[in-house]
Amino acid sequence: MKLSTVFLFATSAVAIPWGNWQKWNKPSTTCLTYEQALYIQERSRVFQLKANLTDARLAGEELFAAQEYKQYGHSINSLRGDALGTLVEPDGVTYVANVLSAPPLYRIDSLAMLHNCTHIMEHWDFYGVGGARNNHIPVRGFALTKVDLTRETQPVVWRQVEFNSMQWANNTGFTIEFPTTGPYAPQPE
Ligand SMILES: *[C@@H]1O[C@H](CO)[C@@H](O)[C@H](O)[C@H]1NC(C)=O
Ligand SMILES: *[C@@H]1O[C@H](CO)[C@@H](O)[C@H](O)[C@H]1NC(C)=O
Ligand SMILES: *[C@@H]1O[C@H](CO)[C@@H](O)[C@H](O)[C@H]1NC(C)=O
Repeated sequence: MKLSTVFLFATSAVAIPWGNWQKWNKPSTTCLTYEQALYIQERSRVFQLKANLTDARLAGEELFAAQEYKQYGHSINSLRGDALGTLVEPDGVTYVANVLSAPPLYRIDSLAMLHNCTHIMEHWDFYGVGGARNNHIPVRGFALTKVDLTRETQPVVWRQVEFNSMQWANNTGFTIEFPTTGPYAPQPE
């Protein structure tokens, strides 16, 4: 297990030397290296940030665009009003298309990353969810990513993504109110 430093990618976004998955997956197909985990994290950041749609599309297709890709997340289930455990995206091609058609974010900060041979856990802040007025508000979350190193393309098998969906909802215009009675109602001063 290794831990990356806070904001690592703010300054090193173009410094990843591997280029693409097909070229560098060969030396280690049994256990994810730290460099491979960082590469997947960085390509995922480029994809989700959408600062450049061409780059984002390439990164998304490289990692996720497999028909059998699966994404899960109770946070998104609840925002959509779906039953908990419902698959968030039917397949990787649809997932990539949906992310690319969503509004861009302002910034993504990586707070931490841990991995073992087959899984990566990332902790992150998304800024700018819901538009530029939220550029200063972090929506903090985690993503657990399952990787199959024996694949020639699209190494990501599935992802579990959970985040502060209350903040996400507020940013995107949901109306959130405290209960007026019960233990969660604000207490009088
Ligand atoms: C977006 O990325 C592509 C591919 O890397 C590059 O050719 C293009 O110049 C970039 N566009 C902008 C506006 O930076
Ligand atoms: C790696 O972590 C995942 C997630 O906790 C776990 O399911 C898997 O068994 C771990 N692999 C090993 C070899 O410990
Ligand atoms: C929730 O959104 C409203 C605007 O719709 C904003 O005034 C308020 O500060 C937001 N609260 C939080 C915690 O972001």
